[in-house]
Amino acid sequence: MTRVTVVGAGFVGMTCAQRLAEQEVANEVVLIDIIEGRPQGIALDLNQAAAVEGYQSVVIGTNDPKDTYGSDLFIVTAGMPRKPGMDRSDLVEINAKIINAVAEYIKQGSPESRVIVVSNPLDTMVYLMAEKLGFDKCRVMGMAGVLDSARMAFFISENHGGGVKDTRCMVLGGHGDSMVPMPQFSTINGVSVTAMFAQSDIDAINQRTKGGGAEIVNLLKTGSAYYAPSAAAVAMAKSIMRDEKRLLPAAAHLTGQYGLEDIYIGAPVVLGKNGVERVVELELDDEGRAKLHASAEAIRQDVATLAEKGLV
Ligand code: 2OP
Repeated sequence: MTRVTVVGAGFVGMTCAQRLAEQEVANEVVLIDIIEGRPQGIALDLNQAAAVEGYQSVVIGTNDPKDTYGSDLFIVTAGMPRKPGMDRSDLVEINAKIINAVAEYIKQGSPESRVIVVSNPLDTMVYLMAEKLGFDKCRVMGMAGVLDSARMAFFISENHGGGVKDTRCMVLGGHGDSMVPMPQFSTINGVSVTAMFAQSDIDAINQRTKGGGAEIVNLLKTGSAYYAPSAAAVAMAKSIMRDEKRLLPAAAHLTGQYGLEDIYIGAPVVLGKNGVERVVELELDDEGRAKLHASAEAIRQDVATLAEKGLV
């Protein structure tokens, strides 16, 4: 019997629940939110869809944290999304309070669980979650790199007119303006994109990748992206639940890798049943390393803001 809980029944949370159920990532998918009726309604709808789609997972919608107890894994999406013109860091205070409350019941009822944080500002919220849970740090991580890399892969495929399927990208650093797209570690079926595109095209792709979330926020006007974010979070969840040991970029706790310590930041990791089973250290040139350190500095500033307000 396996149980995965999605915290927050907004668009990201509900599409996570849908993907988890459709792909039968766990026997039970719990969807919890503070809004009465919403998670229950979504669960009913998804359970009825199972009659058509044929999946075996059962979805449970609830407002009661006790229903999440015994979960193997959490995907935490709860929090305010950005509005047009907002930076992810603008959400730090309000979302920190939500993470604090969620951490309480994860710790209480699911002490063995693995936790994937999706709430923004991502790297800071993962740090906070890990501090509050006190779990082994490899069991707590953040979803961002898979999403940012997916965006980069799409922009590359659009540029060369080919399918996105064979495009594999790597984006390191924080999930914010300081993220570090890595064209030198991005390939189309093994062929480096740096060998296929002019530098001016690569620069444009990098720039659009960094603003990939904001581009959608500005188009939607209310809310932010959810199809790609939920696909990314569920890919990570699946790698953990099925012990696939996929190598994916994720916000992970660094202990000296890349010259960084005691910080959660995007890096390539191996995801298996124990969570982050390995942080892979790429060989970066001076420029890449400087950009990664600048990104770390931006995260440390958000963490300092939390500390100033007594939230961590
Ligand atoms: C994004 O980049 C929601 O931060 C998320 O779309």
